[in-house]
Amino acid sequence: MKKYILSTSLLMSALVLSACGSDEAATDGEGGAEGVQEMTIKFSHVVAENTPKHQGALAMKEYIETESDGAIEVEIYPNSSLFGDQDEYQNLASNNVQFIAPDLTKFVGNNPQFNVPALPFMFDNDEEAIAFWDGEKGQEILGSLESDGVLGLSMWPNGGKHITNNERPIDSPDDFQGLKFRTQGGQVLEAIYSAMGAGSESIPFGELYTALDQGVVEGQENTFSNIESKKFDEVQDYMTIMNHTRVDYAVFTNTEFWESMNDETKEIVQAGLDEGTAVAREEATSLNEEALELIRDRGLVEIIELTPEQIEEFRTALEPIYDEFEDEIGADVYEAAREAAGQ
Ligand code: LMR
Repeated sequence: MKKYILSTSLLMSALVLSACGSDEAATDGEGGAEGVQEMTIKFSHVVAENTPKHQGALAMKEYIETESDGAIEVEIYPNSSLFGDQDEYQNLASNNVQFIAPDLTKFVGNNPQFNVPALPFMFDNDEEAIAFWDGEKGQEILGSLESDGVLGLSMWPNGGKHITNNERPIDSPDDFQGLKFRTQGGQVLEAIYSAMGAGSESIPFGELYTALDQGVVEGQENTFSNIESKKFDEVQDYMTIMNHTRVDYAVFTNTEFWESMNDETKEIVQAGLDEGTAVAREEATSLNEEALELIRDRGLVEIIELTPEQIEEFRTALEPIYDEFEDEIGADVYEAAREAAGQ
């Protein structure tokens, strides 16, 4: 990837100008840009509008467009309408899009430490996950894609994941036997399902509704807001409230784009990102709670709420995952995550 970036760096510089609208910023007359640069920034993501990620992106757009007096336009493309899971990262690296905010577990191929949100029952809530990603280890992991020309700027939470399926009510690890689940990807999620006798397959989010509808997989795990906004309950019969793993995002940008901004422009974009981060973090829990109520009201799935004893059974069944991945993910990462989780 690095080679590719280097060999196309000239082309990328040209793309920075065209992708960003390129109407010149006011200049100082000596070739250096001054004032807010005019540009169009594209932010692409795969989820629906009534989700923490989209609300964060909207807050960012509003802030940047207002504070730049319209010099900077932010176009948001939800629902994989510009790029999907399959191609958004490559297009970010090529600067065809300037911001994406993918689920961290989709990057375990680049760095296995992105498996943290998949560690079973590690974090109980958004605050614990935020504490990890804002901490030293989390920041180090977010910054680990630099050789691809990609900067990890901020973590936005979504929330805990829950299991849906169309075969049977699940309230114990044995109930997973023989079923196949869609995952976001990665070795840890795969190991979770195989520990319970189930199969798994990674499928892009944009194809998940159809995969569930056509029986490519019997189930999937996701947050309430993703389940509700994508109407997965239309094609699933049961939902078990598990909170065993999480969806958390990294807001990634293209390094060359980022560095092409003058100080005044970057200050506005950075402050807009901070605003988006604040909104995503503030609204994630309540958006998920509201989504659960909407799922209940629709009444399309039987909702299974586990007792503390049943949750303990799952914890015990999944405990060996920690040993299995300690070398790959790192004892230091486990330690930082446990500290953030108050364990
Ligand atoms: C999924 O693929 O299920 C989610 O990670 C999508 C998202 O971005 O929340």
